[in-house]
Amino acid sequence: VTHQPGLPAYDDRRKFPALVWQAVELTRRSEFPLACTPEVGRMLQLLAAGADRVCELGTAYGVGAAWVASGMRPGATLVTVEMYEDRAAGAKSLFRGHPSIEVLAGDWSLALDRGPFDLLFSDGGPKRAVGDPEKLLPLVRPGGVVVLDDYTPGVKDDVGRQIWLDNGAYRAVEVPLTPDTAVILATRR
Ligand SMILES: C[S@@+](CC[C@H](N)C(=O)[O-])C[C@H]1O[C@@H](n2cnc3c(N)ncnc32)[C@H](O)[C@@H]1O
Repeated sequence: VTHQPGLPAYDDRRKFPALVWQAVELTRRSEFPLACTPEVGRMLQLLAAGADRVCELGTAYGVGAAWVASGMRPGATLVTVEMYEDRAAGAKSLFRGHPSIEVLAGDWSLALDRGPFDLLFSDGGPKRAVGDPEKLLPLVRPGGVVVLDDYTPGVKDDVGRQIWLDNGAYRAVEVPLTPDTAVILATRR
């Protein structure tokens, strides 16, 4: 298990979708240190192209949400939930003018009323504890995909990984994205 703040990797605005860069700038202005890495962002962008309904748990200042939005096809929607009012307010203001993105302020469980989704990025919701994959089941349609980031390849005896890889309700694989980072992709059976 690692803590991999993605923000320093956003070094040149020309490499990123405009909305992603705006979210990065908002995150920096807000002095918040965390955002998904560009590699995770590109995976979210890719997966969003095949989803009509997307959900993110843990918006922060919208970097992951902006990556998802940059990949969504017309008609697709994203609901993203952030526990802290100030972060949710910042993201809401960033996505003003993007009616396909809805930011909810409150606990991740607010999304339970909106599910199931085709694609779920659980970044501030249930993720690593025993029982967490089961909590997310109502948010994922059968065949829907869950993305979990911040894993380190090769770590043994990591409960936060095994709860996904050994779970009978999902098929899950660990996918290295860089030499030091991996995501778990899970699909609901
Ligand atoms: C790592 S940051 C999210 C980064 C963002 N997803 C991105 O890709 O840029 C995790 C966020 O989850 C939020 N969070 C933590 N617990 C939460 C909960 N129970 N419900 C909703 N959001 C939560 C935190 O406030 C924090 O802003």
